[in-house]
Amino acid sequence: MNHFEYRGGILHAEDVAIPDIAASVGTPFYCYSTATLVRHARVFIDAFKGQKARLCYSIKANSNLAVVATLAREGAGADVVSEGELRRALAVGIPAGKIVFSGVGKTGAEIAFALETGIDQFNVESEPELDLISELASARGLEARIAIRVNPDVDAKTHEKIATGKAENKFGISWKRAPEVYARAAALKGIRIVGIDVHIGSQLTDLAPFEAAFRRVADMVATLRAQGRDITRIDLGGGLGIPYRGDNDVPPHPDEYAAMVKRAVGHLDCELTFEPGRLIVGNAGILVSRVIYEKTGDNRNFLIVDAAMNDLIRPTLYDAFHEIRAVAEPAEAARVTYDVVGPVCETGDFLAKGRELPELKSGDLIAIMSAGAYGAVQASTYNTRPLVPEVLVNGATFAVVRARPSYDEILKQDMIPAWLQTDKTPSR
Ligand code: LLP
Repeated sequence: MNHFEYRGGILHAEDVAIPDIAASVGTPFYCYSTATLVRHARVFIDAFKGQKARLCYSIKANSNLAVVATLAREGAGADVVSEGELRRALAVGIPAGKIVFSGVGKTGAEIAFALETGIDQFNVESEPELDLISELASARGLEARIAIRVNPDVDAKTHEKIATGKAENKFGISWKRAPEVYARAAALKGIRIVGIDVHIGSQLTDLAPFEAAFRRVADMVATLRAQGRDITRIDLGGGLGIPYRGDNDVPPHPDEYAAMVKRAVGHLDCELTFEPGRLIVGNAGILVSRVIYEKTGDNRNFLIVDAAMNDLIRPTLYDAFHEIRAVAEPAEAARVTYDVVGPVCETGDFLAKGRELPELKSGDLIAIMSAGAYGAVQASTYNTRPLVPEVLVNGATFAVVRARPSYDEILKQDMIPAWLQTDKTPSR
């Protein structure tokens, strides 16, 4: 459920009319709903009532400080994959004790920073990483709490670019080798084994692959305990899918997911960590754009809008479907099949293809739904298009939580070296 609805024929985010935001900040812009963020966090937390579980929001899905702060207020911790994300979590007051650090390529500098801030857990993805953590922790007289991310070799049945749990994926350490790597870890200075970690992919709409992976992890916990390892925590990653096609799309509810978790690992009496990203923010955000032109091709109608692949790359990168709505709800308008495309000079620049929509014209606003996760965070300035601003709605108010940069600010990021400067080079 989300808080984007038509009221009086106009799409609203909570109590704010989308055209009012457009008039104030211009288009395109991302718009997030506080009530939806909070609701999603609570539904997830409630699903695990009675289990020892914590939510470490996966910051990569949407790292705007205002979004992370909203979730921090709900008690969420954070799953981070870079020093930048770690700094974001700390900046909004998430205690280091609620932060887990995942990722296959943590650098020495990042590990050192994380150790010094006292994060709760490193999810280790390779033996060289384990050695480096040991070296950096012991040099500081510290002990790093670690979980080893195992690769369970399970097909997540999601888009191949976001599946992470097969043996051929770069993630984790083969579950077959895990006991041996744990034995090594146990002998290393500066390392304290606390648990085991798994994450098999994103936008999973079937519980079976989760269950297969979690059962494999449960068996592994038994094996490791038999070998004397003190496994008290299991990090089950993120990945639960969300509906992208409105009511036609019914992925498992967090309650069903939680029941499956209990079946798979409940008997182990471990503390559970979850790293949902998309589930929390995906349907809490939309991308609002304005139609620039309607253009009729030989066999296509193109709706050329002011948002593009650089603002939301998911359709072209993952063949993702995002529902598109007219911001002014059409009465009985004629319907037209459009390719909704942006201004970027690439054939891959589309937001939807062959989509039947009410007839739209230049100046009309559209909303690209379910864009709160992996939208703004994956945006670029390709074609020197300014990054899209982000707006957070809270009831009847809204705030710009990231401003659109000016062209001056964008150009100032580049520098012209001395040998290219002439008396005609404008001083900046
Ligand atoms: N934990 C780990 C270790 C992850 O790698 C990820 C996502 C998550 C948690 C959060 O997964 P979620 O709950 O959001 O599914 N850009 C892609 C998705 C990439 C997901 C990367 N890892 C997209 O737009 O679909």
